This record gives sequence, structure tokens and C-alpha cells, in this order.
Amino acid sequence: MAPPTPSAPVGSIGVALLGLGVVGRGVFEALRDNAAIYATRSGRPIAVRGVAVHDLTRARDGVDQALLTNDPRALAVRDDIDIVVELMGGMEPAAACIEAALAAGKSVVTANKEVMAKRGPELLALAQQNGVALLYEASVGGGIPIIAPLNRDLQANEIRSLQAIINGTTNFMLTAMAQDGLSYDAALAEAQRRGYAEADPSSDVGGVDAAYKLAILASLAFHTTVHPDDVYREGITQLSARDFRFAADLGYVIRLLAVAQRDTDGALDVRVHPTLLDAHDPLARVDGVLNAVAVEGDLLGRAIFEGEGAGSRPTTSAVVADLLHLVSSGPASRGPASRGAASNHPPESPPRQPPTDPPPAQFASRGALHMRYYLRVLVRDRPGVIAEIGRAFATNNISIASLLQVEADAVAGTAELIITTHHARESDIDRFMATAGMLDAVQDVGIRIRIGSASAGSRP
Ligand code: HSE
Repeated sequence: MAPPTPSAPVGSIGVALLGLGVVGRGVFEALRDNAAIYATRSGRPIAVRGVAVHDLTRARDGVDQALLTNDPRALAVRDDIDIVVELMGGMEPAAACIEAALAAGKSVVTANKEVMAKRGPELLALAQQNGVALLYEASVGGGIPIIAPLNRDLQANEIRSLQAIINGTTNFMLTAMAQDGLSYDAALAEAQRRGYAEADPSSDVGGVDAAYKLAILASLAFHTTVHPDDVYREGITQLSARDFRFAADLGYVIRLLAVAQRDTDGALDVRVHPTLLDAHDPLARVDGVLNAVAVEGDLLGRAIFEGEGAGSRPTTSAVVADLLHLVSSGPASRGPASRGAASNHPPESPPRQPPTDPPPAQFASRGALHMRYYLRVLVRDRPGVIAEIGRAFATNNISIASLLQVEADAVAGTAELIITTHHARESDIDRFMATAGMLDAVQDVGIRIRIGSASAGSRP
């Protein structure tokens, strides 16, 4: 057994910090700067006994060199460690370290949405088998409490729907495109300049990050297992500055909305895509990098959790809260590190976890969606075009709610039609999109954006 570092107080909880990036540094500093307060609140001093980093040669201000290791897996299973805090991000080696720690009887706190979305059920089962806990409040919505409320405070409800803005980078870009008239490329460049978007932004702008987070939330809210591959996903890359102007004229704002709800047959409808929201919808007013999750339950009605969805300090808030909860609720590990350690609190079972073998979900088919739609279609500006387009809509059972024609290019003789529909079947919209391009009048089928909230599978 590796001896505790000399500075570790007797009876303290031994923590391994895997990762010292933006969030890891925030957690390290919070535990150092607030050590006395956290010891009082949790009933035990918390000692960081090891920090796993990628590059041992880099100077780490304020971090004792003796704590550093570049072997996160070995640190995670060390005898003097009770709780592993995984903040490396990405799938591997993070998942392997979490698995090894749980198997070795250590509780784990993680902010890792990809691991929890793809392997959460299996890792939660492993935690339960080993009598320890796996907590992941920071994996969705940064500092916003949403996992614990779904796990505990909303248990009395049948959740009807979740609607969420859970990617700050895209919300920043969409806000900049709407409010400052920026193009997609300019909005992305600005998000990168401010450090919101990564050099490779594909996970954010493609909706992948939001799909991971939605899979985690939907699994909890609907007591089932939703894998990210079950989530229908469209990113924001096809949106143009014009769509934001037209949307505003029609009284809408565009948000990358993550939605989970049950349809009338009990099938789960889970999707992430750009959505036109009524400008008065509370989620339409969630601007910039903020996140928000609206939960509708049969008893509670609608509640909205809103705040900072990423960044060092908000994410640290959620990680440390999970850590304090583990420490105050009893032995955090089954290993020697906890044995004989003094505690002001009686041992308890690990904090509430979702059931480890939830029933599988049936997923709604996308074609059954019944929503309103915004369409932008580039047409030849000549007599009879509206009649032709109108026939194509009628053939596909789609009723037009509003239609605006804007001259696009007088020289080329093209115009853009901005059309909103009444409620229509998504399968009918798909058929219209597939066949409209063949019409002589249509030059480019353009874009289709879903409007507002949907009822999946409900009757027209
Ligand atoms: N890339 C994420 C976002 C933050 O933009 O919201 C981490 O989950």
C-alpha cells in the first residue's frame, strides 16, 4: 500500500484528481482555498493525494510536484485514494480509469458527458456491485443542478418533456448571428477567439455534445437507457444569417434545442436540432453561453433550470458539490484509505443512483413527428411559380401558414420563398423536400427548420 503523503491529515478523505485542465485546476484550487470550510461542511478534511497530468515536464503553479503522475489508472486504484475525480474528458483513458476505480472500490465523481452517455448504465451498475457511488452532476449543464433534481427532487412526477439548451458554444454563435448579424463563419471565429469553441468545433456545431447530454438527461427523466446513437441529431452548420433575419420578422429566434418526450404510444422522441422558438418562450431568452433545461412534470408543471453551462468555476461548483456529498454521506470507498478514518457522520449507503437495469426504450420514428416547419426555397422568379409550389405542398398534405417572397438575385432572376406551414407530418415534409428539387420552378430546396414544440406521433 502506498503511504499517504506526509501532509495528508489523519482521518482525511484521499482524493485523486485525474486531469488538471481548465476544470481540474478549478477543482484543485477550490479544494485548496476552501479546505477548512469544506471539512466543516462534509465532516472530514479532503486531501488531494495525487494529480494525473499528461505532461510531467510542464510547470504547474501552486501544485506540489510530488503529487503529479502521468499514470491516471495507477493513481485511481491506489490504496490511499478514496474518491477519484475524473476530469480528463474524452472517452479513453477516462472510461478505463473510472472502471478501474469503481472495481477497486473507490467512488468516482466525473464531469465526462461522453463516458456517461455511452457507458453510464454499465458503470453505474459496476458502482452498485462494488458498494460505491458514481456521481456526474457536472456532465450536463456545467454548474446547473439538473442530475440531482432529476434523480431525487422530481421523482414524484411523470416527466412529460425535457426541452434544453445544453451547448453553450452553439448558443453563443446563434445569439451572435441573430443579434449582431454575423455570418456562421464569423460567429464561429468569435466563439473560438473567446475560447468557447475548440479548434475542431465539430462536436459542438454538429450537435454531438448536446446529444451526449440529452442521452444522459433522457435516461434519468424517463427511467430508461438512451444511448447517444438513439438521439436524432442535426447541427447548426446549414443556418445562414438570412434565416435569423427572416425568423425575427416572423417573431421567432433560432435555438439548438434538445428535446425528449414520450409520444401518445409511449415511444420516446429524442432529438437535437435547430428550432424556431416563439420570441416570448423563456428558452428563447437564454442568450450567449448560458444553458437552460425546461422540465415538465405531471405534478410540478414546467420548471426551468438555467445558468452557466460550462467553464471552470461553474463546473467546479458541480464537481465539488458531488465530492462533498460523497464525503458527508459516509465511506466513499471500501479500501484501506477509509478504514479507521474518523467521521462525524454515520456511514450511509451511497447517494441515490438510477436503477442499474432500466427497461429498454422504444423510440419514436422521426417521420411521425407532427410539427410546424419553416422552409426557405430558392425559385426562378417567373409567372406560375407560386402555383407550382402550392401544388407540391397540396400533393404532400402540407398546408401553408405564411409565405413571403424576397428577390434574391434580380440578374439571375431568382427569388427566395420563406414559407411557414401549419402542423404537418415530418414524413410529408421529407417527401416535399425530396420532390421539390425536381420542379422546374425550384432552383434549390434550401433549408427546413422545425418550429416550436412538437407532439411526436400525435394525430394531426
Ligand atoms: N462544449 C460545451 C459547450 C461545454 O459548449 O457547452 C462542455 O460541455
